[in-house]
Amino acid sequence: MQVWKEYQEKNKDRFLNELIELLRIPSISAKSENKDDMIKCADAVKMRLLEAGADKVEIFPTDGHPIVYGEKIIDPAKPTVLVYGHYDVQPAEPLELWKSAPFDPKIIDGKIYARGSCDDKGQFYMHIKTLEILVQTNSLENNIKFCIEGEEEIGSPNLGKFISSHKELLKADCVLISDSAMISLETPSIDIGVRGISYIEVEITGPNRDLHSGVYGGAVANPATILARMIASLHDENNHVTIPGFYDDVVVSTPAERELMSKAPFDEEEFKEDLGIKELWGEKGYTTNERTGIRPTMEVNGIWGGYTGEGAKTVLPSKAFAKISARLVPNQQSDKITKLLIDHLKKITPPFVTIKATLHHGGEPYMTPIDSNAYKAASKAMETTFGKQPIPVRGGGSIPICALFEKELGIKIVFMGFGLDSDNLHSPNEKFNIANFYKGIETIPYFHKYFTEMN
Ligand code: BES
Ligand code: MN
Ligand code: MN
Repeated sequence: MQVWKEYQEKNKDRFLNELIELLRIPSISAKSENKDDMIKCADAVKMRLLEAGADKVEIFPTDGHPIVYGEKIIDPAKPTVLVYGHYDVQPAEPLELWKSAPFDPKIIDGKIYARGSCDDKGQFYMHIKTLEILVQTNSLENNIKFCIEGEEEIGSPNLGKFISSHKELLKADCVLISDSAMISLETPSIDIGVRGISYIEVEITGPNRDLHSGVYGGAVANPATILARMIASLHDENNHVTIPGFYDDVVVSTPAERELMSKAPFDEEEFKEDLGIKELWGEKGYTTNERTGIRPTMEVNGIWGGYTGEGAKTVLPSKAFAKISARLVPNQQSDKITKLLIDHLKKITPPFVTIKATLHHGGEPYMTPIDSNAYKAASKAMETTFGKQPIPVRGGGSIPICALFEKELGIKIVFMGFGLDSDNLHSPNEKFNIANFYKGIETIPYFHKYFTEMN
């Protein structure tokens, strides 16, 4: 639609500047020191929604960080799209690896560098600007609701309760999420699934205090060594996870599905070069896309203990720690896998040490059908603005609330991600292509148009 394009063209610098302002707020959900920033960010999102034309916006406090709800209802009889996103971001450490400060956005080579630029402020903001465009050009034909939460990056611990106690408020015909990636601007794709997650932390304790490693070393088990051994034993020589029962509920993809997946373009050399690795690694018998899409995995997210400060200190630590997470695929269940993992670690803990294992968070895997109206509308919208039909692919990341949205509201979710895998999500130098930001704002209005026509 020409009017949408013209409106965007006239206002594009302002759109970008508004995003930059949002990116200046260090809304790190994991850190208590940023609690006020979370409130500030929620307020900023509320203000932007109101400016864009929402007729009701409310901030709902939770036991954690607030949820921003907004809506523009033109006619309750018309279809309603619920947009979900998150204004919280991951911690920015290690700070010394950032080329510019994480909360002082910089534009370099057409990309905007800042924590949250792609995940997810830059992406949910495309939806707020879509609302503005549709309202300002008098072409909104459906209702739009927004649920922008502040705890996605810590596992959405309070959103489930909010959804089940506000079903009428959130009532909609589909959920639309831009919080994932596509292959490229030349090769658009749509994620048809996200993986689940089980995230735990373990603490291994040996002697009751740190010891002189010369006086005691060799005679007392070192918890760091023991933990390293335990972790190493979680994969076998084929990089399969060794925990008995881990793969029991995994839905095995059919040869036809795998054949279809192999059609998505993937440049192995480029992939390795981008990451600075010499060789690929992964579960034997699967391609890279399969390893990050249809297969469950186990990763150590952090491991520490003993002396990690400057210089050397000869010490046999009393304790060692690790944060470990598994990515899950249909039909694995987060609770079940968490229990398997914790029980297994306890079982393989040798008698020289003790173990304490606790859950951080979990989330179920989610798959979206490609024959739903929501998927078809997303696909058609992308085809309209990219000139090519998007390829359905499986996303590697997790959005823990998806399964609950479907269960509580009885509606399907569709992912329209405009980021790139190489946007450094959760890494230093997170970025978002400004071209992708604008492309998203160009594309999303068509989603509303087509979804409304199809319903
Ligand atoms: N936006 C990501 C999830 C994602 C990334 C989906 C790429 C598909 C493709 C989201 O913000 C995220 O990082 N989620 C966490 C969930 C966790 C903290 C419970 C994740 O995947 O680690
Ligand atoms: Mn995200
Ligand atoms: Mn994230």
